[in-house]
Amino acid sequence: MQTTLTSPLTAHSAAKPHLPSAHLSIDGVTKRFGSFTALDSIALQIQEGEFVCFLGPSGCGKTTLLRTIAGLTQQTSGSLIQRGKNISTLPPQARDFGIVFQSYALFPNLTVFDNVAYGLRNRRSDRATIHARVAELLALVDLSGSEHKYPAALSGGQQQRVALARALATEPGLLLLDEPLSALDARVRGHLRHQIKALQARLGVTTIMVTHDQEEALTMADRIVVMNHGVIEQVGTPAEIYHQPASAFVASFIGTMNFLEVTAQANNHALLGTISCPCLPHAYAKDQAAQLAIRPEAVALSVSISELSGDVMGIEFLGAFQRVSLRLNGTEQRLLADVPSRDSATLGLRLGQTLGIHLPADAARLYPAGSNQS
Ligand SMILES: Nc1ncnc2c1ncn2[C@@H]1O[C@H](COP(=O)(O)OP(=O)(O)OP(=O)(O)O)[C@@H](O)[C@H]1O
Ligand SMILES: [Mg+2]
Repeated sequence: MQTTLTSPLTAHSAAKPHLPSAHLSIDGVTKRFGSFTALDSIALQIQEGEFVCFLGPSGCGKTTLLRTIAGLTQQTSGSLIQRGKNISTLPPQARDFGIVFQSYALFPNLTVFDNVAYGLRNRRSDRATIHARVAELLALVDLSGSEHKYPAALSGGQQQRVALARALATEPGLLLLDEPLSALDARVRGHLRHQIKALQARLGVTTIMVTHDQEEALTMADRIVVMNHGVIEQVGTPAEIYHQPASAFVASFIGTMNFLEVTAQANNHALLGTISCPCLPHAYAKDQAAQLAIRPEAVALSVSISELSGDVMGIEFLGAFQRVSLRLNGTEQRLLADVPSRDSATLGLRLGQTLGIHLPADAARLYPAGSNQS
């Protein structure tokens, strides 16, 4: 695990002289394809040694941003600074990165050895150096002994590990991964996730991974960049993104979220039907329509009926917990609540049952009405 990383949020509030150094600064990068804006004024700093994930729905611009960093796509405007050097107009071969794509882009007519050695040969390294380096890299990705195989004789997971070794061969300062695991089955994906993360931590190489899989981003990233429609919605640690979503889009895209129609009240309250619910501090005017967002696991149910109550309309068994669907009495709105399996017997959970509902104020956040559409 990285221990020296500080998120910029902490860094800003901490003493300024200890700001971590930026490996990459992306400043106002816009990319247009004809009249379509794929990236809109992207500004982002990536720290030395950091593992960053670009996360967002299909078509939001993740690959375009990664390709722009690599120089494979030329931005329409804006600049890129890598380790203090302006790389904005440099061709890919003059930039310092290794890249792994979603589909195994190995050379099919070259052996594993030659695939990994490719970049080293281009650099005119001598024979002995190349042999030692390829052996070291294949050991790193657990593929020692596969030197003479061809890509077609390898599984998908093995091919991606060769691609990773090839990307790391020339010791790039920056590792770019575009959905490297998405073509693999779930079991191999889980395993490779750990392997890539461990490898990255061990080498300390600054890494950007594109994914649309939130679980992948939450488990692997030091920081997640959530994108939507060519803009950055939020940058933060996995915990910040999950617990303090900056927009209704982020709140709805990551994990499961309830959105209840409310009207804002003064003093950090919101009116749900006729019931006044405390919530996190908000800036909405009194009587302004809003949505109250709360995660199912934050909702507390009880057999003693409270002011807010609902009828059980559905119970879904999900192993560690049961997801209960309730219809709120008074407003008829739907609410999901996750009940740990060990508590479901205490509640005597059954369809049609009326239960008391508590929405903890510190987990209830207001967003603009009708704003959680992607
Ligand atoms: N060469 C191109 N010409 C025209 N439009 C493009 C081109 N490349 C990408 N786009 C458009 O830019 C938008 C962003 O594409 P991009 O490939 O970056 O999305 P993504 O976030 O990587 O999506 P996915 O998760 O599906 O890979 C899409 O609407 C896409 O159609
Ligand atoms: Mg993509």
